[in-house]
Amino acid sequence: MRGIVLAVLIAGPVTAQDTPTKAQGLAAWDDMYSVTSHPRCTNCHVGKGGIPMWNGLTYGADAVHGMHVQAGDSRVGAETMPCRTCHIGVASANATPHAPPMIDDAWRLPPAELAWLGESSQDICVQLRDPETNDGFDMEELATHLEASAFVAWGFAPGAGRSTPPIGLDKMIAALNLWASAGTPCANDP
Ligand code: HEC
Ligand code: HEC
Repeated sequence: MRGIVLAVLIAGPVTAQDTPTKAQGLAAWDDMYSVTSHPRCTNCHVGKGGIPMWNGLTYGADAVHGMHVQAGDSRVGAETMPCRTCHIGVASANATPHAPPMIDDAWRLPPAELAWLGESSQDICVQLRDPETNDGFDMEELATHLEASAFVAWGFAPGAGRSTPPIGLDKMIAALNLWASAGTPCANDP
């Protein structure tokens, strides 16, 4: 009797029900994409051109950063006008509208291969599941990045009346974990 109870307890957590279906994985990806396509993320996740965006502020869709800001290869504007000239690296409530956002990290653009701006859901899905194009992360490390990054934290709580992604950070991390357990499916997979 004791042996049976123990066997049931051990077998319990690894039943087939625990592996989400592909459809559940794809639905979780849709939640992920609702964030990775939001201006609070895509304004920095731009490509090789290195021009950050003011999209989704009061300047209309597709507005580029004013004052000819150019991040350059350094991604911090070292070649022209450094980001830190205005985006000082200190924690801030960012309560003043139209002031440059500030966080406790050096404000900068991500590497160009992490570009999301203008990319389709399919493209970002394939990009994020592949360590070659996601900064070398496995899914656990990606979840840790979401939890720990000052950029991500700011994107979900930007202050100054800026809009936020349609789901919160907790829900995004839950969606990432579900998508990962489903085997990181993307819509056009065979
Ligand atoms: C001369 C000052 C200045 C410099 C230099 C500067 N910024 Fe900005 N940035 C601003 C201001 C001001 C805003 C806010 C605009 C607003 O809300 O009307 C802003 C906003 C932004 C936003 C939009 C944030 C959002 O709400 O989604 C991004 C992204 C950004 N900056 C990136 C950069 C990067 C990357 C660099 C360096 C390559 C940089 N900025 C350099 C002044 C500057
Ligand atoms: C101010 C610019 C900035 C903003 C805004 C920003 N990021 Fe990033 N992001 C970065 C940088 C820089 C990196 C590269 C890693 C590093 O240097 O911390 C990065 C890397 C990442 C990565 C890991 C690498 C990968 O696979 O793409 C994820 C995930 C990510 N960001 C998610 C987000 C999400 C979600 C948002 C919006 C809620 C967001 N970021 C907003 C600058 C930004």
